[in-house]
Amino acid sequence: MVKPIIIANWKMNLAGKEAIRLAGKIKEKTKGIINKEIVICSSFTDLASVGATLRGSGLRLGAQDVFWEDAGAYTGAISPLILKAAGCDYVIVGHSERRQYLGETDEMVNKKVSACLQHGLTPIICVGETFEERQQGETNNIILSQLNRILDKVDLIEDEQVIIAYEPVWVIGSGQAVDPAEADSVFHLIRQTLVDLWPIVIVNQNVRLIYGGSVDADNVSNFARLDLCHGFLVGGASLEADRFVEIIKSL
Ligand code: PGA
Repeated sequence: MVKPIIIANWKMNLAGKEAIRLAGKIKEKTKGIINKEIVICSSFTDLASVGATLRGSGLRLGAQDVFWEDAGAYTGAISPLILKAAGCDYVIVGHSERRQYLGETDEMVNKKVSACLQHGLTPIICVGETFEERQQGETNNIILSQLNRILDKVDLIEDEQVIIAYEPVWVIGSGQAVDPAEADSVFHLIRQTLVDLWPIVIVNQNVRLIYGGSVDADNVSNFARLDLCHGFLVGGASLEADRFVEIIKSL
């Protein structure tokens, strides 16, 4: 049985002391929760201090992006080695906000996934359709094409983990999650695609499918009851300890 995972994506929020304070509160309020994995993805500059705050708890540290090279003349970029040294176990890759504002493509995400796996980081791979794509009935094609490009030549082996986050772009930050039945159908499509790529035991044991997009304590249980949903990527509601912990506890 894989453990459910709840990931806080703080995005470009909280600085210095604010990040430490929130991490401390979440740590305090989640004491004793051992049947769920909880990950905090802070900004790069707060990784070390948030990591230090989380020490001694079961909470894990994640980054919101990574570059695919190990080291070299790549001004401003952060490599998997730097993230490992900062104490990260997880990295979000291909978030729709990076695609929209920073020109991230599936080909770039593909390189990031390979770099993560090579260095023992678990990639949290975001896929999802925009509102226009959904209106045109293109959701399944978009998800299929994203997955096939992002996972091109990625061979998942025994001790490597991957998380696929289905995040319909149009509901992110909207306050209104997608209909769980729609998410369920996309989860089935994702699973089938993965089973076509990798051995079924690997898909069962090493891959978790999660949902993201306006998750809160009121809607989380509607998704948690879906067979294939193993957790959540939480943006806005992860910026307040009480709201985030309420989500974790209502699972
Ligand atoms: P949201 O963000 O929970 O604020 O919708 C989710 C995400 O972008 O990962």
